[in-house]
Amino acid sequence: MNDREAWVLGQHAFGTSFGGVADGVYAAPGRVNLIGEHTDYQQGLCLPAAIDRHTVVAARRRTDRRVVAYSQAQGCWATSPLGDLRPGPSGWWFNYVAGVCEALRPPWGCDLVVVGDLPVGAGLSSSASLEMAVGTALNDLFGLGINPENLALVGQRAENAFAGVSTGIMDQFACALGREGMALLLDTRTRSTVPIPFDPEPSGLTLLVVDTQVERQLVSGGYQARFEEAQAAARALGVASLRDADPAHLSLDGVLLRRARHICSENERVRLVVAAAGRRAWDEVGQAFYASHQSLRDDYEVSHPALDRVVETAMHCPSVLGARLTGAGFGGAAIVLLRQDAEGDFRQALGAAWRGRLPFRAWRVHPSRGAHRVEVPADGKP
Ligand code: GLA
Repeated sequence: MNDREAWVLGQHAFGTSFGGVADGVYAAPGRVNLIGEHTDYQQGLCLPAAIDRHTVVAARRRTDRRVVAYSQAQGCWATSPLGDLRPGPSGWWFNYVAGVCEALRPPWGCDLVVVGDLPVGAGLSSSASLEMAVGTALNDLFGLGINPENLALVGQRAENAFAGVSTGIMDQFACALGREGMALLLDTRTRSTVPIPFDPEPSGLTLLVVDTQVERQLVSGGYQARFEEAQAAARALGVASLRDADPAHLSLDGVLLRRARHICSENERVRLVVAAAGRRAWDEVGQAFYASHQSLRDDYEVSHPALDRVVETAMHCPSVLGARLTGAGFGGAAIVLLRQDAEGDFRQALGAAWRGRLPFRAWRVHPSRGAHRVEVPADGKP
């Protein structure tokens, strides 16, 4: 959504839940990962892009030390004193809010309402987006002076400590540092980022997100198991992380060999896609998407039959250049790079592939700006 829509939505939701006007409205995007999947917790490379779907937080300072929050999507209130923030039940939306408040320790409490148009549980980083929206709000309301990189690290720590998931830093970096029309080359070893122009639209192409609506759950899913297997593979190879492993000499067997092979080959594909996007060689980008999906399916084993079906359908459509699962996998969403004029045919093919049994949602996404304060529309009117 654009800033005007976010402002109107945020202020309206604030008025109906708390009454009065919010001091500020903040929007944080979701993200897709273009390539570099399950590499960020092994010091690898990834290439996410923030997207034009957002979590919106409208917030107002309080004069006491309580956080009072309302999530419109959950239809649910939550509150806690700032001095007594604790993780709640696994998967609870307020964990992300509380985790960020606990890490940032603002001097006063606040009222905040959470709204937006980013689907939750679709693998588009709704949790990191919420963390970055709340973090940006507190940073601005209380003048904390934290830069976006550090805000991203705060979000990751909040997720690890309050949501109990040992994720990498990709999602929060993408949501905090996204740029219009750009993907973000993130080297998770040095935490350095380079904006990479990624705009297939002038070439008549578009990036489509297909949400299989198979809900993934990081806590109960295999994410933690993959995290530990990757660590075990690095240990067995005697390297600090798989970033240092030599793909030509992976002296491992079975599961650990496959896990290491995925991470090594995926780092290479990130380099390839960055180079290809620079030359607008979209066919090569698409081929790398397919290769990544195959590796995630066979070597890393994080795909799902619904995601495989999307990718197989894409392979049979001549106007599709490439497709792959995006994010952690185990359900959630796929990205598809295709010709703009072929979107209708592809949607039809997807419908036919599932014979209507598995509902899917699909929408175009555009690389967008990271978390920010939404300015009041110049005319002050909706
Ligand atoms: C989730 C995690 C990220 C990353 C991806 C897989 O989105 O939050 O840190 O590991 O999975 O690439």
